[in-house]
Amino acid sequence: MAKLSILRYPDPRLHTVAKPVTVVDDRIRTLADDMLELMYQADGVGLAATQVDVHERLIVIDTSEGRDDPRVLINPELIARSEEMTFADEGCLSVPAIYDKVQRHAQVTVRALGRDGLPYQFDAEGLLSVCVQHEMDHLMGKVFVEYLSSLKRDRIKTKMLKKTRDEQKS
Ligand code: NI
Repeated sequence: MAKLSILRYPDPRLHTVAKPVTVVDDRIRTLADDMLELMYQADGVGLAATQVDVHERLIVIDTSEGRDDPRVLINPELIARSEEMTFADEGCLSVPAIYDKVQRHAQVTVRALGRDGLPYQFDAEGLLSVCVQHEMDHLMGKVFVEYLSSLKRDRIKTKMLKKTRDEQKS
């Protein structure tokens, strides 16, 4: 597979809706491994396939402090969401150096296929819960800045376009 790179907002490809993974084979396992490597390199806690321009329902997450608890979620589904909401700062590898508050369900129960292709489920709260919801949004073509006011979003868009231009010049 060609080396993966992370799409930067406002790249329109970030708005692609991902398709379900039909078979968990070596191609998908390699993709998951490459995405984990990229996520660790970029010091992120989560990465969705959408962000590397692969439009299939696959996300990788590690919210552990030791950076030693990689999770692969294939075709993830939320099977329960708490009524209680949380309002915490989020960032995104596709929107570097931007952090802002987004409202999310405080707890969720997630069901997915693992790297081995077998179904599993877990309850998430705190950062893990936020991260799962953030990454699952990516699979629906949604970036967290879309929860912010249009004024903020436009400022972020301008900033990101300038950053990209500056990097291309240097
Ligand atoms: Ni993100």
